[in-house]
Amino acid sequence: MSFSDNQISRSVIPGLQEYAFGGDYNPEQWPEHVWLEDMQLMREAGVNLVTIGVFSWAKLQPTENTWSFEWLDRVLDLCHQNGIKVDLATATASPPPWLGLNHPSTLAVDETGVRMAWGARQHYSPSSSVFKKFSLQLVEKMVERYGSHPAVVMWHVGNEYGAHTHRCFSEESADAFRAWLQAKYKDLDTLNERWGTAFWSQWYSSWDEVMPPRKTVYFPNPAQQLDFKRFSSDAMLELYKGEVEVIRRGIDPNIPITTNFMRFFPHADYWSWARHINVISDDWYPDLADPESHIEGAMGADLMRSLGQGKPWILMEQATSAINWREVNPVKPKNAYRRWSLQQTAHGADGILHFQWRASIRGAEKWHSGMVPHTGTDTKVWREVSALGQDLKKIQPVIGSRIESQIAILLDWSSWWALELDSRPSTRLSQRTALLDYYRPLSQAGYSIDFAHPEQDLSKYKLVIAPSLYLISDLGIERIRSAAAAGTSFVLGSFSGAVDAEDGVRVGGHLMGLREVFGCYSEEWHPLLPGESVGIKIGTARGEVSGWSEHIRVLPGASVEATFETGDLAGLPAIVSNQLPKAKSWYLGCTPDRTMLSEFLERTAIEAGVAPVVLNLPKGMEVTKRVNDAGSYLFLINHSNEDKLVEIGQSSRDLITEDSFEHAVPVSAGLVRVLRLN
Ligand code: GLA
Repeated sequence: MSFSDNQISRSVIPGLQEYAFGGDYNPEQWPEHVWLEDMQLMREAGVNLVTIGVFSWAKLQPTENTWSFEWLDRVLDLCHQNGIKVDLATATASPPPWLGLNHPSTLAVDETGVRMAWGARQHYSPSSSVFKKFSLQLVEKMVERYGSHPAVVMWHVGNEYGAHTHRCFSEESADAFRAWLQAKYKDLDTLNERWGTAFWSQWYSSWDEVMPPRKTVYFPNPAQQLDFKRFSSDAMLELYKGEVEVIRRGIDPNIPITTNFMRFFPHADYWSWARHINVISDDWYPDLADPESHIEGAMGADLMRSLGQGKPWILMEQATSAINWREVNPVKPKNAYRRWSLQQTAHGADGILHFQWRASIRGAEKWHSGMVPHTGTDTKVWREVSALGQDLKKIQPVIGSRIESQIAILLDWSSWWALELDSRPSTRLSQRTALLDYYRPLSQAGYSIDFAHPEQDLSKYKLVIAPSLYLISDLGIERIRSAAAAGTSFVLGSFSGAVDAEDGVRVGGHLMGLREVFGCYSEEWHPLLPGESVGIKIGTARGEVSGWSEHIRVLPGASVEATFETGDLAGLPAIVSNQLPKAKSWYLGCTPDRTMLSEFLERTAIEAGVAPVVLNLPKGMEVTKRVNDAGSYLFLINHSNEDKLVEIGQSSRDLITEDSFEHAVPVSAGLVRVLRLN
């Protein structure tokens, strides 16, 4: 990939030519005199962007026929007077109580038929026509009033679509599901064939018989479940698109519209969403009980950048310290707030925002940290927030820069959904775990990694890795075949290529359509019982695998790279490679342990001709490189408790501390350096 045809040296938010810094601002929770203090403190901390209105519907439309915008007028004007830009939310994320009371059809229904009550948030049914009518009416009013407001530089539709209600089983949703299926399959015969309804007497003779997968006595049809997940993602996306259409009619075409993602969120296919979003934005709340949450922090950030086709993105929400919604909610460890914030910028974020500006004193989130804590500004949190605001000003040259990756990891939400349905060979397979298994060693070795969808053109990558791609569509097969023919090497993890787009086994069995690429197929799955493990040998290295194994059959010309050593499969291949005219492929019938997988992946990267950003990266360090018209920037992130020295092979200057270095760069424990390469 070259940057020459893709150079950007300005912010993805044209109305804000700076690193975005700020957060969700909910002034409706506070008396107006506090707003003045908010403005002064925001300026002090370097805040330049706030998201306003996310949960304001009830305050903007207190009854079905009354509106109250004056308070919001005053807030937006105040922001403008203070030079603070606004990401204006459409306020449709949480409907007011009167909507549920007057129009119960707007409330979501669960799989057992229970209608959700108002009193929390996001309780609407995505397919409710009445909800759509009222929410679009609100958006019309917002755009009419604020479409040209000088403070507004971005529009924010809804909030975290699907976070609480990701599917609805109401009658109206059932009708919408049937319409979606009719558009997809055209006729019932095709649906019957693709869903395999000859099985268990599920054959449909009229569309009225087709239902969402409501509560049943045993496994519902897998293809029906899979299509309902796709439909539910699309139903939410339709809501987003409906609002965008209204907003677009009333705003300057250069103002971006976004909605906030939740990285590896299991209920929305973000690849299909991303096409409709001008600036990818995302919320990230690391699990402090997980000592490796920084790996997921990097992985999610890479996904966000990739969803935007490499463009910088915005971290829309993070906590300054503790959250309130896990079992135990510790404060962030020392230096973690700064380190993890800069880590997101290292992976392409051009903005760091938070939930929320001022910590609430009432309501369900009063124990969630904010930028302004309950105890005010003489606090560690406030000092850290203000310091980060200053750091971001110092790294302004990085804005708009991109990351070049020669490795892509494949992720397809359909495959994820199908993998984790019921009635599988093992319910212990997890998409997220598989992604982490493969991402971790490559990231720790300093490789730059994109995410990609199997149906996109993959030939620009030297190495494509699919840790778990259970389902591969016909187009996915075509893409893999053509990229492999053009010179892209592939690593395919276990239980991949098992089914077609509707979770059906292809006639002839495993890897049909891809056998020539991988030089093998699996004859039978051998899931391992909990606690069971088998020996494996790769070259001279020996290890154990647990969870999964496969009886692989090798085709002529392919080579056995690893064998099982114990169990029923002893002596049979565990990993097979296949030399292709312009590339090489590997198929793994198990997931080797961490050390083995790490050695294996580094070897495949070398064979595929990919180099890490920095060679011999010390343990506990993370590195990324961003490039724009003005220069190249290296982010060195020390996640360990020890000081490190990183040999980067050229001279550089730290944008924050202004220290200059020849070749070796010291990075103190827990800290980050943002270097401009000379
Ligand atoms: C989500 C929501 C916010 C808030 C935070 C709390 O990200 O979008 O409104 O509830 O979680 O962590």
